[in-house]
Amino acid sequence: IQDINILAIESSCDETAAAVVHNGREVRSNIISSQIDLHKLYGGVVPEIASRKHIEKINQVIEEALKEADTTLDEIDAIGVTYGPGLVGALLVGVAEAKAIAFAKNKPLIGVHHIEGHISANYIEHPDLEPPFLCLVVSGGHTHLVCVKEYGKYEILGGTRDDAVGEAYDKVARTIGLGYPGGPKIERIAREGDPDAIVFPKARIEGSPYDFSFSGLKSAVLNYINGCQMKGQEYNPADIAASFQKAAIDALVEKSMKAVDEFDMYKFAIAGGVASNGALRQAMEEACAKRDMKFYYPSPIFCTDNAAMIGAAAYYEYLAGTRHGWDLNAVPNLKL
Ligand code: KG4
Ligand code: ZN
Repeated sequence: IQDINILAIESSCDETAAAVVHNGREVRSNIISSQIDLHKLYGGVVPEIASRKHIEKINQVIEEALKEADTTLDEIDAIGVTYGPGLVGALLVGVAEAKAIAFAKNKPLIGVHHIEGHISANYIEHPDLEPPFLCLVVSGGHTHLVCVKEYGKYEILGGTRDDAVGEAYDKVARTIGLGYPGGPKIERIAREGDPDAIVFPKARIEGSPYDFSFSGLKSAVLNYINGCQMKGQEYNPADIAASFQKAAIDALVEKSMKAVDEFDMYKFAIAGGVASNGALRQAMEEACAKRDMKFYYPSPIFCTDNAAMIGAAAYYEYLAGTRHGWDLNAVPNLKL
């Protein structure tokens, strides 16, 4: 009988987070200190500011996570921590903290891949979800179509050639004056717009059916706005948001379903910050229903960066025997 409690730490970007997760699926606490208000002033994440803020917050966040779970470090069975990919200075704060705790308390240390964390967020609320399944990971830094073959065993089928989809949301939002982070704001104003008002191009990548490209779409939106301004025409931000969102979601759905058909999968999941987008969920839900396929997605709080998802991933790594040494380091471009 397993009864494993993992203290998980996440600091790869602009959220300082800690959580206590029991047996990979039960979240006993999930504390997130977001730096969004700080970075908003600059229109995006400033790495140096992120690192400093993580240092300020991390001990407090961990203490809160332990307190809310009504536990202590002595009762914890292992420490899980994101060690890549992400901002190197930001990652280092979490890794150093995790190593210090593991060393001082003589606990196993488990380094976790950030994307493995995002995918594992789906385990938290779906007790029936087990590999194999296909997962689309969509966030500010990543757009990957991943086959989860077994716990901890992944095959990347495709990814973005340029911008991540969340990055495209953020850039388009900035251009139409919505501010950072743009995803939720685009989603909100898109509800008042006409998705068929403007036809933005869909990227096709020869020979790579599961790869994505979003920089062309982003440029098309910028060109459209510049064109309107040059001609002295008014433009409707809601129509732009809705049309951009439609183009982005169409591409995500089309390629995901192509992979689902090709690989004969009957379970499909989405993960990452953009997975909290209601229009994306609805489009995927419909596409999966057509194929009689089960569709999974995490609650919004487990879509954007958090430590509970790292605790879920760390549990399956723990069972597989993964243990890291004191030489564990931050790896900004870590491969899955
Ligand atoms: O997973 P996440 O918190 O961080 C990364 O690992 O990148 O994802 C953040 C990204 C941002 O680009 C944000 O704009 C996007 O997720 N996002 C959304 C929504 N909520 C967050 N994009 C579209 N619609 C949303 N509702
Ligand atoms: Zn993330």
